[in-house]
Amino acid sequence: MREEWWKESVVYQVYPRSFKDSNGDGIGDLRGIIEKLDYLKELGIDVIWLSPVYKSPNDDNGYDISNYEDIMDEFGTMEDVDELIMEGNNRGIKILMDLVVNHTSDEHNWFIEAKKSKDNPYRDYYIWRDPVNGLVPNDLTSAFGGSAWEYDQESGQYYLHFFSRKQPDLNWENEEVRNRVYDMMNFWINKGVGGFRMDVIDLIGKIPDKKIKENGPKLHEYIKEMNKKTFGNKDLLTVGETWGCTPEIAKQYSNPDGSELSMIFQFDHILLDQQPGKEKWDLKPLELLDLKKALSRWQVELDDAGWNSLFWNNHDLPRIVSRWGNDEEYRVESAKMLATLLHGMKGTPYIYQGEELGMTNVRFENLEDYKDIESLNMYKERRENGYSHEEMMESIYTKGRDNARTPMQWNDSENAGFTSGEPWMKLNPNYKEINAELQLDDENSIFNFYKKLIKIRKENPVVVYGKYDLILDDNKEIFAYTRTLKNEQLLIICNFVARKTEFKCEEIIKFKHKELLISNYEVNENESINNIELRPYECRFYKLLM
Ligand code: GLC
Ligand code: CA
Repeated sequence: MREEWWKESVVYQVYPRSFKDSNGDGIGDLRGIIEKLDYLKELGIDVIWLSPVYKSPNDDNGYDISNYEDIMDEFGTMEDVDELIMEGNNRGIKILMDLVVNHTSDEHNWFIEAKKSKDNPYRDYYIWRDPVNGLVPNDLTSAFGGSAWEYDQESGQYYLHFFSRKQPDLNWENEEVRNRVYDMMNFWINKGVGGFRMDVIDLIGKIPDKKIKENGPKLHEYIKEMNKKTFGNKDLLTVGETWGCTPEIAKQYSNPDGSELSMIFQFDHILLDQQPGKEKWDLKPLELLDLKKALSRWQVELDDAGWNSLFWNNHDLPRIVSRWGNDEEYRVESAKMLATLLHGMKGTPYIYQGEELGMTNVRFENLEDYKDIESLNMYKERRENGYSHEEMMESIYTKGRDNARTPMQWNDSENAGFTSGEPWMKLNPNYKEINAELQLDDENSIFNFYKKLIKIRKENPVVVYGKYDLILDDNKEIFAYTRTLKNEQLLIICNFVARKTEFKCEEIIKFKHKELLISNYEVNENESINNIELRPYECRFYKLLM
C-alpha cells in the first residue's frame, strides 16, 4: 500500500457562516476562522475543508457561486483568504477549497450572458432545451423539489437545474466550460491550497435527454482530464462528493495510479435510516446489522484498490450523536463510541465542526427559525401533498440540514461566543452545557477524546494502513472489528445500545501483549478481552502484539 500524506491526515470541515463571527454582524467569517486556528491546531487536525467562501447570492448558502475568483463580502476579502492559507501553513494545516462546478449561480456572469440570447457566446455554457408539447422537456426533478427545468420567458427555452432554480447546471460537454473551470482551479492551486472537495462531482457527466444524472458515460474522462490539467502533478488531496457511487466505481475514482482523485465520499451508510426507494424525510430506524454491512463492504472492497473517506457528519447531515447515538443520558459516552468506531477504520477521517464537542440536533418550534432552502421547499411541497405540520416538523428535526448549521458553541456567554451581534441563525439552546471552553480543560471531554484519537492515528501506522476485518458479524448490538498490519493488531469494540451487553469472542484474539489505547469508561486492565460485559455505549480500542 502506497504511503500518502492524505491517508495519514485528519480533515476538519468548517462551515464558515456558522463557525466564528469576528465583526459582530452575526455571520461567521474568514477572520473568525483565523482566530480559531490555534483551537484546531490543539485538536490536531491536518486539513481544513472550507465550505464555499466565494461570491454568492446565498440561495443555497454559498453553493451557488457567482464568482469563483472573488470572496463573499460577509466572509471577508481575498487578502483574508491568503492570510488563512498562510497562517494555516504556519501551523501545518492545509486549506481544502470547496469546488462547486456542477452548477453556478444564476447571477454568475456566464449565466447572465447566456440568458441574453440564443446566440450569445455563453449560451452553450448551460443546458437549454425547447419545450415539448408546450411543457417541460422531461420529468427530471430538482433535489430541492419540483422540476429540474426552469422556463426562460425571453428565449422560450428551458434551462436545467438539478438544485434550486438559482443554480443552473453547467454544460460539461462544452470544452470551453471545462477549460474555464481548470483555469479557475489553477488560480487556487497557485495560491497554495491543499486540494479540493468536489461538490456533487458525479453529476457532471449527465445526459439530460436520456435522463442520466449521475455516473454519465463521460464522467471519468472529464475527471482524468481535470486531473491532467490541474492537480495531477501536484501533491494535493482531492475528494469527490458522489451520492450514487458503488465500490466498483470508487476504485476508478481513487485508483492508486493517481489518474483521478484521492478519494470520494460515498453515502451508503447515510441512506440506511430512510425508507428504501423513498426520500430522506421518510424516516426509518437504523438497524445495526445494515450499518455493519454497509461500512464493512467499503472497507473490504477498497482495501488496497482505492481509498476511503470516513465521515458521520457534514453540513448536509443531522448530528451523529442525535442520529445514531443518544443525545440525552449517554451523550458523552455515545459520541465517543461513534468517534472510535469511525476513527479506527481504514480511510481518511473527516470531522464536522462541533462534532468534536458532541453538538446535537436542534428542535426549533417555529418553521421561521429554519433557513435551509431544502427544508423550506420540502415543507411547502409536502404540506401541499397532504402531510401534516407535525409530521413535517418531525422530519426536519430528524434530518434537516440546519441541525448541522446552528452556530458553533464556543463558550457559555450570550450566543455561545459565536457573535457579539444578532446571529444569522438561532443557536442550539444547549450551549451552556455543550461548548468548547468547558471541554478544553476537561480531560474526559469529547474534545479531548477526539484529540487523543487523532494522536493515536499519528503514532500507529496500523491505524492508517492495517487491513480491516469485521468480527461478530451477526451481533445486533456490538460493532467490532480488527485491523492488522504485520505483527500488530487493533481490536475495536463498540456497544451501540443504551444497556449492558456481552462481548464474547474466543477464536480471534491471539496476542502476546495487549494495550488499551483509548476507551470511554474506566477499564480494569487485567480484565480478559475474550469476555467483556460492556456498559451502555461502551467502546474499547486495543492494540495487540501477536
Ligand atoms: C452538495 C452540497 C450541498 C448543496 C448541493 C448543491 O450536496 O453539499 O450543500 O446544497 O451540493 O450544491
Ligand atoms: Ca462577520
